[in-house]
Amino acid sequence: MTAMTKKAEEAKKSCFTLTVEDSVAVLSLDIPDEPVNTLSPAVGAELEEALRKIEQDAAVKAVVFSSGKKDNFVAGAKIDLISTFRTAEEATEGSRKAQEGFDHLEAFPKPVVAAIHGACLGGGLEWALACTYRIASDSPKTSLGVPEVQLGLIPGAGGTQRLPKLLGAQAALDLILTGKALKPKKALKLGLVDEVVPKPILVEVAKRRAAELAARTLRPERARGLGLRSVGKGKGLGEILKGLANKETWAELALEDNPIGRKILFDQARKQLLKKTRGKYPAPERALEVVKVGMEDGMRAGLAIESKAFGELAVSDVSKRLVEIFFATTALKKENGTSDPKVKPREVRKIGVLGGGLMGGGIAYVTAAQMGVPVRIKEKDDASAARALKHVHGLFDERVKRKSITWRERDAKMALVTVGNDTSGFKGCELVIEAVFEDLKLKQNIIRDIEKVVRQDCIFASNTSSLPITRLAEASSRPETVIGMHYFSPVNKMPLLEIIRHKGTADWVTATCVEVGRKQGKTVIVVNDGVGFYTSRILAPYMNEAGHLLAEGADIAELDRALVDFGFPVGPITLLDEVGIDVAAKVGKIMHEAFGERLSGPDHVEKLVADGRLGRKSKKGFYSYDGKKKGVDESVYALLPHGKDRVKLDRQEMAERCVIQFVNEAIRCLGEGVLRSPRDGDIGAVFGLGFPPFLGGPFRYADALGAAKLLERAEHFQKKHGKRFESPPLLVEVAKAGKRFHA
Ligand SMILES: NC(=O)c1ccc[n+]([C@@H]2O[C@H](COP(=O)([O-])OP(=O)(O)OC[C@H]3O[C@@H](n4cnc5c(N)ncnc54)[C@H](O)[C@@H]3O)[C@@H](O)[C@H]2O)c1
Repeated sequence: MTAMTKKAEEAKKSCFTLTVEDSVAVLSLDIPDEPVNTLSPAVGAELEEALRKIEQDAAVKAVVFSSGKKDNFVAGAKIDLISTFRTAEEATEGSRKAQEGFDHLEAFPKPVVAAIHGACLGGGLEWALACTYRIASDSPKTSLGVPEVQLGLIPGAGGTQRLPKLLGAQAALDLILTGKALKPKKALKLGLVDEVVPKPILVEVAKRRAAELAARTLRPERARGLGLRSVGKGKGLGEILKGLANKETWAELALEDNPIGRKILFDQARKQLLKKTRGKYPAPERALEVVKVGMEDGMRAGLAIESKAFGELAVSDVSKRLVEIFFATTALKKENGTSDPKVKPREVRKIGVLGGGLMGGGIAYVTAAQMGVPVRIKEKDDASAARALKHVHGLFDERVKRKSITWRERDAKMALVTVGNDTSGFKGCELVIEAVFEDLKLKQNIIRDIEKVVRQDCIFASNTSSLPITRLAEASSRPETVIGMHYFSPVNKMPLLEIIRHKGTADWVTATCVEVGRKQGKTVIVVNDGVGFYTSRILAPYMNEAGHLLAEGADIAELDRALVDFGFPVGPITLLDEVGIDVAAKVGKIMHEAFGERLSGPDHVEKLVADGRLGRKSKKGFYSYDGKKKGVDESVYALLPHGKDRVKLDRQEMAERCVIQFVNEAIRCLGEGVLRSPRDGDIGAVFGLGFPPFLGGPFRYADALGAAKLLERAEHFQKKHGKRFESPPLLVEVAKAGKRFHA
């Protein structure tokens, strides 16, 4: 390479571009060949160098930071870096370096304005916090937050110190402990940004503010937790008084400004936190401690403990598992669900939904709300059609109530949803999703009927939760267009979509449905066909085991607690009440027929159904309900073996038995080729069934425990409880070879 081309190459690879106009330098970050900006030591070094030049240039009076990416400011630190830390000390050192960089920025002798458009997250927000002034675009693409806890970390570049200083402890803790992101309006209200302006004028306004700051005609005086109060020219007094008149803010400040108040605040926050994390997620607990040190002993002490805690968390198992999940979902987003990466999805401009009940309504909602395409629902009669429309409207209304959308936005989206009691409006659909009752004959008839109406290449997807797609495809005159799209309830909240292809499903059909699912906001896994596919199949032996435990005399609440303590969001018996005991009985029967004795459930389930105990929907199940779930309905014990005389069973053993059934069935699915990879199995279990994320999924769990140990425990239970604990051949193979499921 000649010196010239080398220089040109280097210039091209530079992350920052610097332009100076009217004494204001605009430093724009645009990392070459990357879809988003992320922070790394290399970017940090370039930033230091750029700042050094700007500092020395007497003609430059102020600086604006902006991004050269379309809809992204800085998405955070480069996450790959976290996996490269071998020790806590290395990670602590990394954090310390980043802190130093931002300390330098904060102390920079010329004013610095952050012009924020798009995601401003993690290290990106910590960067902006070290600036003198922050302006955000009003775009829906703009969001600000510190999501580190979601990766088992805490902000490690000063965020735990600067956020409480700027916002007050309560608002800062709300952001740091939950990792949630704020939209521009809310960020302005809290004082996280100083101004919100339309995107087209963002950099222009930022330049103007930078010049005003340099000329001292703008002097931001921030009352902590009250946002910006004084924008030059004496403008802020009225606002200050308005802010101070707010009783809540006063109470908040009074609380955190004296040692007793602070103790109450942090004790309360810790209590609330432990209720949620049950001690399984160390990051938010450490964050709380770090914020407290900063507030009590000052910024220096706070930064020191921040980097120490960051270092320890970065090499913890919990963080490793959460980072692995992050990478797995990122990788899934780039795949088309087939073995041929060249297969392209076809465009879907309209979707038909057959059956607008609980699931169909939810599917129509995510289609309109997230994907933004027209959706036509067919119900069996007018009354059901009206109910379906009301259901979808209700889902939008919830968001209006939460102020996440305006009523205008709701109405615009609702205009995409139409209903009818016949197939009119289905002709133009590229995809029809069926969500009628779980009945093979009904679903097969529906395929035959709809194929007479829709175009030849229309995809037919079924939301069945257990029926093999191969059996549905038998009714189709074009089986290559038949596929499963298994959504989870409630569809508007549950993040997973399990796509099931049968042997004849065309690749373009799979790729198209994967793309649709993604546009509906889902994390999508693709599995091969089989009874119960993947998720329903691994849930069956888990629920059965809970049933067997009840039959042995386990106490209902104790059993639920055992699995919640393990890390599931709810226990199996609560889940049974939610799903519907009748539905579980039906699916259980299908599983038993398909897989024999290994998946046979306890006998008492039929008795419960016969008693009219269908769970929450019938206000009668294992628990009692009057809208809300109350305690165990003691009368249910009369229908269970041992009646009211419950037997004390070891909680840990109860959890272990259920979890081994779950994990072993997942391994069986991988061995039989239902699953394409352990990664998909982990994501399906975590996002679809609530398997504890801090354990990373059934395959990560098996790897952490060791296949040999898992095998030993399964054999132990097999001796006690028989065939249902028989280990899958793949587990035996992996254990014998001393291997792991993940490479
Ligand atoms: N409920 C869940 O948690 C869940 C989860 C995943 C998948 N599923 C599956 O989704 C499907 C629907 O379940 P759901 O819970 O929404 O049931 P649901 O009873 O709430 O809804 C079914 C709807 O289909 C309508 N319907 C029946 N026959 C019809 C026809 N011929 N034409 C048009 N509409 C018709 C009914 O009027 C009803 O509104 C089932 O296959 C179920 O196994 C359910």
